[in-house]
Amino acid sequence: MKKFSIVIAGGGSTFTPGIVLMLLANLEKFPIRQINFYDNNFDRQKQIADACEIIIKEQAPDITFLATTDPAEAFADVDFVMAHIRVGLYAMREKDEKIPLKYGVIGQETCGPGGIAYGMRSIGGVLELIDYMEKYSPDAWMLNYSNPAAIVAEATRKLRPTTKIINICDMPVGIEERMAASVGLSSRKEMVVRYYGLNHFGWWTDIRDKAGNDLMPKIKAHVKEFGYSLKEEIEESQHTDASWMHTFAKAKEVFAVDPDTLPNTYLKYYFYPQDEVAQSNPEYTRANEVMAGREKHVFGECNRITKAKTAKGTTLEVDEHASYIVDLARAIAYNTHERMLLIVENQGAVVNFDETAMVEVPCIVGSNGPEPIVQGKIPRFQKGLMEQQVAVEKLVVEAWIEGSYQKLWQALTLSRIVPNPRVAQDILDDLIDVNKEFWPKLT
Ligand code: NAD
Ligand code: G6P
Ligand code: MN
Repeated sequence: MKKFSIVIAGGGSTFTPGIVLMLLANLEKFPIRQINFYDNNFDRQKQIADACEIIIKEQAPDITFLATTDPAEAFADVDFVMAHIRVGLYAMREKDEKIPLKYGVIGQETCGPGGIAYGMRSIGGVLELIDYMEKYSPDAWMLNYSNPAAIVAEATRKLRPTTKIINICDMPVGIEERMAASVGLSSRKEMVVRYYGLNHFGWWTDIRDKAGNDLMPKIKAHVKEFGYSLKEEIEESQHTDASWMHTFAKAKEVFAVDPDTLPNTYLKYYFYPQDEVAQSNPEYTRANEVMAGREKHVFGECNRITKAKTAKGTTLEVDEHASYIVDLARAIAYNTHERMLLIVENQGAVVNFDETAMVEVPCIVGSNGPEPIVQGKIPRFQKGLMEQQVAVEKLVVEAWIEGSYQKLWQALTLSRIVPNPRVAQDILDDLIDVNKEFWPKLT
């Protein structure tokens, strides 16, 4: 059986060890001969890489491992690029969150002004990875989950239209695990769903079990009362902090606005931005929580493993919830025709919506990539919301390409999260100040 070679771009990510452990746990399904790490931050990556090298030696000594900051080495002879970079690191995420809050506007990693600022940083970073892939391994596929996925996807659609990149998000995976648990199923894989939207901005319209029984009534009854909170928490390793528990509970109020569908959790930022501001601490945001939590734990544990020269007894966990990445790689490698939610160019999948929008819909994935499944016409309520949001995302990409201050100001103004153009401009000017190193110059 062919063994695959992969490069993890963003080797220094807090998610890298969990993903490596997940890949090692799935070698029977997806055999690997080589794992490369690539990052542009040598010191950060080294801490993760030294520990992962030990983990790989202990669990799968046949796999060749290489960690490098040299793209020529990292991207040579690979079948898949798994990309999860964060341009500007947590230091900039913190600014994305805190600057809007100064003006009473929610600051969030992927939504509103914070997401726009992050998008303006990410576009260049992801394009650079694509160019390395095309130069050194032109047959490879990039599985990208670098955020903000909506803006990154639109930028790659426009600027690298022929590249083999698939943008994917794990939020639906996490929510579907919760839906499955809420109706007593052991896995989301027992469900078949219909869904449409933009990334972090979508709705489920139909959920059935494998026999075709409609699960929507039971799931809706649960969400009506508890949102996506569960009486008994499940092993869903990524979304465990108290702030995530608040998000899952808040889905109840988002659902109430349109009880015909089940909403993505991220809609809370667009529907109830004032509530989110009210319960934020402008001195201590999610970035601070992650730095003190996941980042500290992962780096602390990696450094401990390196010192001990063994991963025995480690508290690092297999990120089983990330196994959707293996499903995606397998779908391409083995033409499995797996049905997955992906971010793809609309082209009629949402019939009454912009053909060029990057939408999130179920796709059948085979060796020539994803084939979107038509979701039909969508109601006026969702269409109105999506028109506004997709215009924000497209304006950001145009602003990046043209270096246009005006378009970026319009993007912020159009975001549902921002109350008016004056506040939009105040936030924008502060964001420009701190992003000089990362954004194109705007005139
Ligand atoms: P992190 O900061 O811990 O890791 C990101 C790594 O990327 C860092 O080591 C950094 O040095 C590196 N990097 C930054 N710019 C780079 C560049 N131009 N070239 C190469 N490497 C570069 O961040 P994290 O919290 O682990 O998250 C990583 C990414 O994954 C983020 O974009 C996050 O939003 C995303 N993410 C997406 C999903 C999803 O649903 N799509 C889920 C989880 C995380
Ligand atoms: C979800 C989203 C990701 C996002 C992550 C943030 O999984 O789908 O796009 O990056 O949450 O989580 P964090 O723990 O970093 O706030
Ligand atoms: Mn996501």
